Amino acid sequence: MATRDLTHFTEDQTKDVQLEAFGEEDSKCKELILSLPKEYYGVPNHYFYFFQGFWAPPSQIKSIISFQNHFQAKDSDVVVASMPKTGTTWLKALTFAIVNRNRFSSLENHPLLTSNSHELVPSLESNVYVDTISQFPKFDILNMIEPRLFGTHVPFASLAKSIKESNCKIIYICRNPFDTYVSYWNFMNKISLNCYFPTITIEDDFERYCKGICHVGPFWDHMLGYLNESIARPNKVLFLKYENLKENENFHVKRIAEFLGCPFTQEEESNGVIEIIINLCSFKKMKELEANKFGEFGRKIEKKYLFRKAEVGDWINYLSPSMVEKLSKIIEEKFSGPGLSFKVWT
Ligand code: A3P
Repeated sequence: MATRDLTHFTEDQTKDVQLEAFGEEDSKCKELILSLPKEYYGVPNHYFYFFQGFWAPPSQIKSIISFQNHFQAKDSDVVVASMPKTGTTWLKALTFAIVNRNRFSSLENHPLLTSNSHELVPSLESNVYVDTISQFPKFDILNMIEPRLFGTHVPFASLAKSIKESNCKIIYICRNPFDTYVSYWNFMNKISLNCYFPTITIEDDFERYCKGICHVGPFWDHMLGYLNESIARPNKVLFLKYENLKENENFHVKRIAEFLGCPFTQEEESNGVIEIIINLCSFKKMKELEANKFGEFGRKIEKKYLFRKAEVGDWINYLSPSMVEKLSKIIEEKFSGPGLSFKVWT
C-alpha cells in the first residue's frame, strides 16, 4: 500500500473545500447548504450536509438540485438505483448487456469490453448534472440511444418528479449492510489515499455509519424508500439483493429482462445468451479488463477501486463482535417490521 504523505496538509477544521469552490452563480445553493445540519465524515475539510432527509457533500447537493429541477424522464428510460458499494457497477453492466443484447450480439465489439459500466450508464448526479446548477446537462442525454440507461444513488423520495411520474423503470440493488459497510470503508480509504488524506479509522467511521451518516445515508431509509415503492408499484421498481443475484444469476438476469419488457426468447435461452451475459459481467472478467484497471471515472475516482473482493461475508475480517452486535440491532430494529432480511454468509 502507498504511504500517506501528510506534510502538505494543514488542518483548519472549519473549512469545507467543496463549498469554498462554489462560484458566484452558486450563491443561493451555498446559502441553502450552510443552513443545513453538517457532519464531518472522516476526510479533512470535507463535510456531509443533511439535505431532504439524507447526507451528501455540497457538490452532490448542487448536482442533485439541478437533476431534480431539470431532468425529463422518458417512458422508455431505465434507472439503476442503489446505495454506494452495493453492486452498482455490476448491475449497470448486466442491465446494459441485457437491454442491448441485439445491438451487440457479437462479443467482439461489445462496449463492456472497452468501457467501464459507469461510462455506459451515466450517473444522473455524478455525470449528467455534475457540478452545475444549469439546465444543461454535462452529458449529452438528448442523443443517447433509447432506451436510455442511467444510474443514481439519490433516495427514491428525492428523485426528479418526472422519474416518479413517468412510466420509466427503476431497478434497485441493495446488499447486506455488513458487507456494504466494509466495502464502503475500504473504498473511502482508497480514494482518500489519492488525495493524501489521513486514514479513516474504522472505529470512528463505523459509529457514523450506525448513526446513518454515510453517503446518501441513512442506509435504512434509502433501502426502505425503494422497497416500499417496489411493493406499491411492482411494475415500476424492481428490488434486488446483491447476495441473491450472486446466488442465482440466471434467475435474476431473466427476471430483470422480463421486468424491462424484453424477456429472453426460447431461442436465446438455448443459444446460451444468458450465460454469455453473466460471464461478460462477472467480477473476474470485469476486474481483468484494461478498461477497468486503468483510468478514472466520474469525480476522478480510479476505476480499479470499483473491484475489490466481491464476496459475501468478508465483513468477518473487519468488524469486531461489538460492532456486529450493534449493526445487527439496527438491522433488526429497522428491517424486521418490513420483513427485509439479508444473507450475510456464503
Ligand atoms: P467489495 O468491496 O465487497 O469487493 P459498487 O459498484 O456499488 O460501488 O459496489 C462495489 C462492490 O461490488 C465491491 O464489493 C466490488 O468488488 C463488487 N463488484 C464489482 N463488480 C462486481 C461484479 N461484476 N460482480 C460482483 N460484484 C462486483
